[in-house]
Amino acid sequence: MRLEFSLMAQPAPRPDDTRTPDEQKKVHRAETKTRTPVEAKREGPTLDAVKADAQVRTYIRSANAQTGAIGYTEHGERHANTSADGARFILKSLGHEARRCEVAAIAGYLHDIGNVVTRQNHGQTGALLARHILTDLGFDLEEIATIMGAIANHEEQEGGMPVSAVSAAVIIADKSDVHRSRVRNPKTTAFDIHDRVNYAVTASEIKVSRKEKLITLDLTVDTETSPIMEYFEIFLPRMMLSRRAAEFLRCSFALVVNNTRLL
Ligand SMILES: [Fe+2]
Ligand SMILES: [Fe+2]
Repeated sequence: MRLEFSLMAQPAPRPDDTRTPDEQKKVHRAETKTRTPVEAKREGPTLDAVKADAQVRTYIRSANAQTGAIGYTEHGERHANTSADGARFILKSLGHEARRCEVAAIAGYLHDIGNVVTRQNHGQTGALLARHILTDLGFDLEEIATIMGAIANHEEQEGGMPVSAVSAAVIIADKSDVHRSRVRNPKTTAFDIHDRVNYAVTASEIKVSRKEKLITLDLTVDTETSPIMEYFEIFLPRMMLSRRAAEFLRCSFALVVNNTRLL
């Protein structure tokens, strides 16, 4: 009886709070540049099938809410979409075959899904989660293996290294997603250095020149919000991993800030 009473006295479950406001804002860093080509559809499931999967949708929303709860920038569907598009764009621009470009987009979309478990080692947990999801969706084992390797190796703080063309593309796409729209802290006066640097970036674009073998991250930074030094203070390891990834793709890496090449 007492147990029954205590159960009844519990507050009603809170409404689903995994839909954080930053997911409702449809702010994109740059317009989407790529789409799934017909050739890629013929060879297996596509990014659209992954995006429509109930596990993927729930885990990414929940990962975003959980990273928000510990003070991180946006890690939801916006970041997933931007990374997917960036990874596919990089390989497509370098002339890789359509199916590999699609696999890169899928790895880019899923790369942060491990945050649903915990931030620490989220690359590795994400790879294992993706394995189950992609197996259920009927992906080829070789493709699953490539995607697992790319997810597990995307994070510079977890010892990530480019291990395939797909992995290299995911690294560059992920590390280049720095943008004002990722900041969730509503109080500019309470910004930490990560908020400040992200907020200062008002435009961010990946450019690829197959002819020059050059991958460029082109940023527009409001230097009144954050001096360029702060960008380097927190992003130098990311830029170094991006350079390594570009080298894996037999390209150089350039960082251009406010029309000046800095790296
Ligand atoms: Fe990550
Ligand atoms: Fe990420």
